[in-house]
Amino acid sequence: MRFEMLISSLLAFGLLAGCTEEIGFGSPPKSGATLFAQNCAICHGANARGAGAAAVNLEQVPPDLTLIAERNGGLFPSDDVLAKIHGYGGPGHFGDMPDFADIDTGENVMWETQNGQKIATPRALVALVRYLEGLQR
Ligand code: HEC
Repeated sequence: MRFEMLISSLLAFGLLAGCTEEIGFGSPPKSGATLFAQNCAICHGANARGAGAAAVNLEQVPPDLTLIAERNGGLFPSDDVLAKIHGYGGPGHFGDMPDFADIDTGENVMWETQNGQKIATPRALVALVRYLEGLQR
């Protein structure tokens, strides 16, 4: 009897732990900087300027992500950057750049496009775009 109770409480605990993990309860949302360090720095470099450890194995040199605005006439093309990180075009959409459509999809936030449309978008993707925007020089 005691043993059964122990098992059922363990099960209940396991299930609860599973649920809380799924909705991200108890783990604060990751910042753009953390997401970048964990998912992008390996190719784009810790400072986003293009020389991550894995960059040497790629056919394409990962671009310097602090110069996106400069390459675009001084404007940060946030919709385009979001689309490239998300990978709207599907796997292999953008050369050696992986797609991150499934990154940390716990929660959606409203993304306002450059022409004012609002689209529910994974919070992590928005955090990454804002982080990159802040790095422009
Ligand atoms: C496996 C290596 C790799 C990883 C990991 C990677 N990238 Fe890339 N990324 C690339 C390459 C290579 C390109 C250039 C693709 C091209 O020009 O066709 C690129 C291009 C980009 C661009 C387009 C830049 C521009 O000027 O238009 C953005 C934005 C970008 N990456 C952001 C990210 C973010 C954010 C992450 C992490 C969530 C990430 N990348 C992870 C290799 C990588």
